[in-house]
Amino acid sequence: MRQMVMVGFLQAQNCTNLVSSWRHPESRDDSMSADYYRTIGRVLEEGKFHLGFFDDRLAMPDRYGNDHRHTVEHGIRCVKMDPITVLTVMGMATERLGLGATCSTTYFEPFHVARVFATLDLMTNGRAAWNVVTSMNDGEALNMGHDEHLEHDARYDRADEFMDVVLGHWNSWDDDAIALDKQSGLFAHPGKVRRLDHHGTWFRSRGPFTVPRSPQGHPVVIQAGQSGRGKHFSARWGELVFVSTHTSMEHGRQLYREMKHDVARQGRDPDKFFITPSAYVVCAETKAEAEDKMALIETLATDEDALSLLSEAMNFDFASKGIDEPFTDEELANISGTQSMRDRVLRASGIANPTPRDFVRFSHRARPNKPFVGGPKEVADGLEQWFTEPVADGFVLAATHVPGTYMDFVKYVVPELQRRGLYHKDYAGTTLRENLGLPIPRATWRNTQ
Ligand SMILES: Cc1cc2nc3c(=O)[nH]c(=O)nc-3n(C[C@H](O)[C@H](O)[C@H](O)COP(=O)(O)O)c2cc1C
Repeated sequence: MRQMVMVGFLQAQNCTNLVSSWRHPESRDDSMSADYYRTIGRVLEEGKFHLGFFDDRLAMPDRYGNDHRHTVEHGIRCVKMDPITVLTVMGMATERLGLGATCSTTYFEPFHVARVFATLDLMTNGRAAWNVVTSMNDGEALNMGHDEHLEHDARYDRADEFMDVVLGHWNSWDDDAIALDKQSGLFAHPGKVRRLDHHGTWFRSRGPFTVPRSPQGHPVVIQAGQSGRGKHFSARWGELVFVSTHTSMEHGRQLYREMKHDVARQGRDPDKFFITPSAYVVCAETKAEAEDKMALIETLATDEDALSLLSEAMNFDFASKGIDEPFTDEELANISGTQSMRDRVLRASGIANPTPRDFVRFSHRARPNKPFVGGPKEVADGLEQWFTEPVADGFVLAATHVPGTYMDFVKYVVPELQRRGLYHKDYAGTTLRENLGLPIPRATWRNTQ
């Protein structure tokens, strides 16, 4: 029976996806300590979450006013640690929880990314996942030795070749290459390890790759592209696909149907392609208690949080405009960062030339977007409706405060979802693929020429 996929939406950062989370009275203050992430990992594993996922950007949000002082003063995602290192800390404190992190195809080399995630996969007995992003803004480009961010669709063309090289390397050792025969001195069968010799438009990578296969073959591929080009990329490579919270049930139905069709059109199995929207859950024993919690959360966010994050995501300095000054058609057309965010605000507001104030209101960058608020029954009802519609195969749960959001969800909502048969009572296996119900791929040699 189809079961919900549950992902913890995490940040190796001074706050969660919700900037105001660090200001929450119940949030732990040690987000730069190993114990903080060990604790989150154990809470997610107790709730049988499939995956703990760390998002990432290669720069703090300093596009607003082209200055970082407001970012640091207000703690707007100004601390960003390396997610792989933090993930490994979490991996060593858990047994079954999947471990995912973001890594950019625009600013790293495929051999390096292939090795980092294949190693994490071996170190965690087959629990690794890689979120493939093309990055968002000039701040990241400037930190990584470039003058400006690569054009939107060119980023995805580069990413397609990046995937060819990574999967080429991940498939260059056969599953049974290693012999480890101390008698004969045969470590591995030379004929079962190949050189990729990749020469392409964007990359050259010779090989042979230096990390053998893991118990799940290779890491699970996550993707979150939402523009036309981004969605096509997701349907080609993604196994677990994150989308932003649906702006309406109708939009959710259309997006879910479209993406599953595109997967089938690319010759892949749509039932092995999981679409999970990001979501906020604020829950308690009763609906009234949960609403009180939500009221507190609402008081913690500021418009500056939103303007700073909008500038980061869209790679446009919102301080260059008056708060009530409409965007021109040209400014909207030239958005070089996340185009899907622009499209979402145009769709949700119905305004052709929105102002920065409209973007703050309709982008929900600093406030939980359509949170599921209530006791066990109300929240389970909401999640069940999305799951059975279907507009979702599961959820990427962001936190309003840590670790409280996940402790509440595990205490109040998980038992209710399990009672309804919508969510697994235990992990099916030891690897992430087994727990997601994804097949374990055999090594298939891929010549990328
Ligand atoms: C749940 C979720 C997590 C995401 N995590 C990241 C991330 O870690 N880093 C990043 O640069 N983008 C992240 N994104 C944004 C996407 O990668 C992508 O840039 C965005 O959806 C825009 O897609 P587009 O490039 O097709 O316009 C995330 C999106 C969602 C919905």
